[in-house]
Amino acid sequence: MSEIEQEREDSLAERGPQFLIRLAAMLRTARTHDVSNQAFQRQLKDFIQLLSAMFEEDSGQDEVALAAAVGYFYLNAVRIRAQASLLPVYHWLMAEFERRSLGGVRFLSGVHEAELERFFQLFLAAEDAALAARIAEAMREASIEHIVAVPASALDTDDLEASLDHRQENERGRAKKVFWHAVLGTRRIVARARQNGRPDLRQAKRLVQPVVDSIMRHEYSVVGLTALRDHDEYTYAHCVNVSIVSVGIGQALGLSRQVLADLGVAALLHDVGKVAIPREVLQKPGRLDAQEWHLMQRHPLEGAKMMSRMPGLTGLTLDSMRVCLEHHMNFDRTGYPDVDMEWGQATLSRIVAVADCFDAITAHRTYHSRPRTAFEALQYMLGPTRVGFDPAVLWGLVRTVGLYPAGSVLETDDHHLVLALSPAPGDVRRPNCRILARPDGTTLSEDHVEEWTPMPDERHVVRVLSPEDHAFDTTELIAA
Ligand SMILES: [Fe+2]
Ligand SMILES: [Fe+2]
Repeated sequence: MSEIEQEREDSLAERGPQFLIRLAAMLRTARTHDVSNQAFQRQLKDFIQLLSAMFEEDSGQDEVALAAAVGYFYLNAVRIRAQASLLPVYHWLMAEFERRSLGGVRFLSGVHEAELERFFQLFLAAEDAALAARIAEAMREASIEHIVAVPASALDTDDLEASLDHRQENERGRAKKVFWHAVLGTRRIVARARQNGRPDLRQAKRLVQPVVDSIMRHEYSVVGLTALRDHDEYTYAHCVNVSIVSVGIGQALGLSRQVLADLGVAALLHDVGKVAIPREVLQKPGRLDAQEWHLMQRHPLEGAKMMSRMPGLTGLTLDSMRVCLEHHMNFDRTGYPDVDMEWGQATLSRIVAVADCFDAITAHRTYHSRPRTAFEALQYMLGPTRVGFDPAVLWGLVRTVGLYPAGSVLETDDHHLVLALSPAPGDVRRPNCRILARPDGTTLSEDHVEEWTPMPDERHVVRVLSPEDHAFDTTELIAA
């Protein structure tokens, strides 16, 4: 990406949150007051100013386009980051767009206050489904020439998702693209499964294929991204993480490309049965009581039932069905559903069980003051609980995520402090790292990034730091 493009993107990224906050404020004011109200008029002037500033900054563009697609807002095709402080506004506004089946709004250069007033009035009135269906037409009738409403059905979401991606050609850039595309796509698959009672396997295959390709090429950056804990998307990110780690394990165990592709899909859909479990149970923050736990334990069976509704039984459907059913059974059959030792848990299910546990441990805080780090999860799984897992699969897990998984802060024998970014397939002890501090204690600034790809042979890890022992924001660093 050229410097100018980068600047444009940075400026849009900065404008995004501001834009949403102003838009939401105007909608709220317009709802409780008349548009002639002073407060609204003040906000209107500020908003026009913001638009003019954006037209000026971005001279190549004669429009400011806000799109709402697959759970994200995009400003001129640059995704607006859902920072923690912005989340309430983000979700509220998203719901307002969804309720109107609105995919976006384009503000064209020349837009004036009277048009904006009329637009907000119409937008509010479009809470009525009949008007929502013809909002674009209604806007034309109201002589609004410089604002265009784009129905959700007219939005090319692939394009927007692609906009996440075009920037980096390097491996990590590609990995980010693969990862986010999968997370966004999984959200759609789950939503559709909730409606139709069965998931779209073809779509799942399309999402998983790039993961398989990366891992077959020994590009493990995508494994590093599983360390991202974006809370909003975690439900979907969990499915993707389990898929990525499962494919990695399968590759370490020598499975063929075809089997890996099936494994990736089955792993992506392992928890699809949860759409049949009441939301109050799924989202309950504390411990589940006996009855809730009983409901929760139905998700493997519900998943298998959903798979059985797929038209035409294929190998993939059967694999997915078994993985749904068996991923909580445990190697020693101490899990659920309750079966005896004679039950032969499929290889793919054993793999997904390990990948699932590894990802879930680092996300749950129910029994701990903070979630366990990935390194602690690995120690836990290789410790006394290892009897619950197939030992060969555990070995595959270590091959996949490394001994020091992404997100670990490590001290080396020569006193460097480094952050593990992604596993290096050649040596599980030496991940790809970003240097956080030099031996003399100096830390590296944001603009001066130094990496070891991977950690050199002569260096050794002597200590893994707990989150309590350092002040680095590892999630932000991995996300960068
Ligand atoms: Fe599960
Ligand atoms: Fe799971």
